[in-house]
Amino acid sequence: MNARARKENVIVALDVGTTKVCTIIAKVDDSKIDILGVGTHPSYGLKKGCVINIDKTVQSISHSLEEAKLMSGLSNIKKATIGIAGNHIYSFNSSGVVATKEKEVKEKDVERVLDAAKAVVIPSDREILHILPQEFKVDNTRGIKDPIGMHGIRLEANVHIVTGQTTLIRNLIRCVDQAGIKASEIILQPVASSRSVLSDEEKELGVALIDIGGGTTDLAVWKEGCLIWSQIIPVGGNHFTNDLAVALKCSHEEAERIKVNHGSVLPEKIDTNSKIMVQGVNGINSSEVDLKFVSKILNARADELLCTVREILKNNNFLGRINAGLVVTGGGALLTDMIPYSEYIFERPVKIGFPVTFGGMTNVMKDPKLSTVLGLLLESKKEEMNPYDFEEVKQFPKDENDIMTKFGKSLKKVFREIF
Ligand SMILES: Nc1ncnc2c1ncn2[C@@H]1O[C@H](COP(=O)(O)OP(=O)(O)OP(=O)(O)O)[C@@H](O)[C@H]1O
Ligand SMILES: [Mg+2]
Repeated sequence: MNARARKENVIVALDVGTTKVCTIIAKVDDSKIDILGVGTHPSYGLKKGCVINIDKTVQSISHSLEEAKLMSGLSNIKKATIGIAGNHIYSFNSSGVVATKEKEVKEKDVERVLDAAKAVVIPSDREILHILPQEFKVDNTRGIKDPIGMHGIRLEANVHIVTGQTTLIRNLIRCVDQAGIKASEIILQPVASSRSVLSDEEKELGVALIDIGGGTTDLAVWKEGCLIWSQIIPVGGNHFTNDLAVALKCSHEEAERIKVNHGSVLPEKIDTNSKIMVQGVNGINSSEVDLKFVSKILNARADELLCTVREILKNNNFLGRINAGLVVTGGGALLTDMIPYSEYIFERPVKIGFPVTFGGMTNVMKDPKLSTVLGLLLESKKEEMNPYDFEEVKQFPKDENDIMTKFGKSLKKVFREIF
């Protein structure tokens, strides 16, 4: 096999979340993506989706990157597609119009009309992250997705523009940089999650994606295949945990354990006699607490969050347009009874959004917490990188019995055998 035939694309996705940082390294062969390495590490430097501690964020990114490198057997990773969220994100719809130069729409005309659409006054402390075309109009014909080659003298574009605060974007880029890689693309997290969770049909019919993470809840509304709304709400799963920690006078860890293992957002379903032992803080004795009480606390937060989303959808007249209903993803979607309670609030069909799985490891990947990172991977531009240009990782962890280590080794072996 000659060197050219062996040439592959390696893509890397990095999701810097409020509770975890996740890196996936994959190779692309034609349109087939094979996951080579996954690294996940708890995140300590973010609050509500924004970097508040550079050193801690760099450490978390480095650990997750190292883990993914070890598993993939590739050490020379230089670039990654990263996701961004945080309550500094502000999105809006805009439009632009130009006259075509040659009575036929050329690529240059599309560039000019998109430039015209983004020519809106944006505060100097913000920058544009995305200009996502919704539809083009050539003369009087609406609803065009790709206008290039069409005859007409007037080209109009409706776009969705996503902006973020420059300093906070720079902080995230700096963290990635200090961890030793470059951010080749920055993608809004709910756009990435939509890519891995929603089908084209759902986006066409109209759907609202709600990604309930640790620090933020990200909303993306799609209709006729286009993103018509995106918003970051600064409330996530951590707020549910904090509420419990305060009400039960216990540590954050204990509250998280109770939420994940025993929590529900439907107190009506909980038996009045159900109790749970709660470990007090700093050696204070354990106490018995009614599970109904726990559920009432979680219900209050779920109600506040879901009603906020419902108000956004209602105020923008989206509720009647999302014919495919709502899809809830992110770790928060796993909270017991979140789906039936959402159906009650929205009076629409709601389902959990599991990411599409590909390239092996399907059991591990079928997790709503991984929707963003898998979406980032799917959105990654194919970088012309040859795995044979990468130095192999020389050292594996000492624990030879570690399952991930074994998995990394076997993957590397398979990889060598194939090429
Ligand atoms: N089984 C579960 N039941 C209830 N909640 C869960 C469960 N698993 C995870 N969570 C919650 O999901 C949240 C983490 O979700 P996720 O991993 O999607 O967040 P993140 O990407 O790190 O954060 P963000 O997207 O806000 O930056 C945490 O608050 C966690 O408590
Ligand atoms: Mg997330």
